[in-house]
Amino acid sequence: MAKVFAIANQKGGVGKTTTCINLAASLVATKRHVLLIDLDPQGNATTGSGVDKLTLEHSIYDVLIGDCNLVDAMQFSEHGGYQLLPANRDLTAAEVTLLEMQTKENRLRNALAPIRENYDYILIDCPPALSMLTINALVAADGVIIPMQCEYYALEGLSDLVNSIQRIGKLLNPSLKIEGLLRTMYDPRISLTNDVSAQLKEHFPETLYQTVIPRNVRLAEAPSFGMPALVYDKQSRGALAYLALAGELVRRQRANRHTANV
Ligand SMILES: Nc1ncnc2c1ncn2[C@@H]1O[C@H](COP(=O)(O)OP(=O)(O)O)[C@@H](O)[C@H]1O
Ligand SMILES: [Mg+2]
Repeated sequence: MAKVFAIANQKGGVGKTTTCINLAASLVATKRHVLLIDLDPQGNATTGSGVDKLTLEHSIYDVLIGDCNLVDAMQFSEHGGYQLLPANRDLTAAEVTLLEMQTKENRLRNALAPIRENYDYILIDCPPALSMLTINALVAADGVIIPMQCEYYALEGLSDLVNSIQRIGKLLNPSLKIEGLLRTMYDPRISLTNDVSAQLKEHFPETLYQTVIPRNVRLAEAPSFGMPALVYDKQSRGALAYLALAGELVRRQRANRHTANV
């Protein structure tokens, strides 16, 4: 049964999409079956997976409003090696359409139910807002992965985000966990980065991933070729960092399963 992780942060530009694409490809490299869901109308995860968002026959929007079966909207990312549920600007309309529907928060969860057993991991790339789309992701997920930059306002934003996730979880998905905090675009030469990083370690010793994602130009270049960094330049520091993250995520999963069984 797949573990479903929402990759979320209400801030834009923190590395959500980069994390989705590269973590998905790295999990595939470790022989896992992965589905990536693009839940952002910007469709960056779609483009970065090598799929043209302007010529989609079906997208996640059709799935959410019940116009199309999830399997019929899926596409294969050739370079990434994972399945993709693509998105484009049509998804902007989902906010309004969903509000008019009954059971608006459960639509993604219900759509995923029949296919969850076909995957090891399902990653959801969230838009940069706590919108009805993000709520759908949080209701469908087992855990939330929060990518963040170690900058001045990061900690403040983080506590708001964690509070919101906990409130939404309590109301709509009591088993939802904060799966992990991920430091992205990390530059240890900046002293503020080290200060914020030390505070994260102190406040979130269990949730903070040991793996940090360095600032690396290959990670920024790869999406314009529709590739994960692992294919674009597999020796790059960015590609190696995401491979390490996949390893840490899988080990954490095993350890949790172990504790849960004790
Ligand atoms: N580790 C990194 N090193 C260099 N550039 C990065 C890194 N992570 C993301 N970027 C770039 O930063 C921008 C924002 O990243 P993105 O993943 O799109 O963030 P989000 O999805 O949170 O808005 C993109 O142009 C992306 O290519
Ligand atoms: Mg994004």
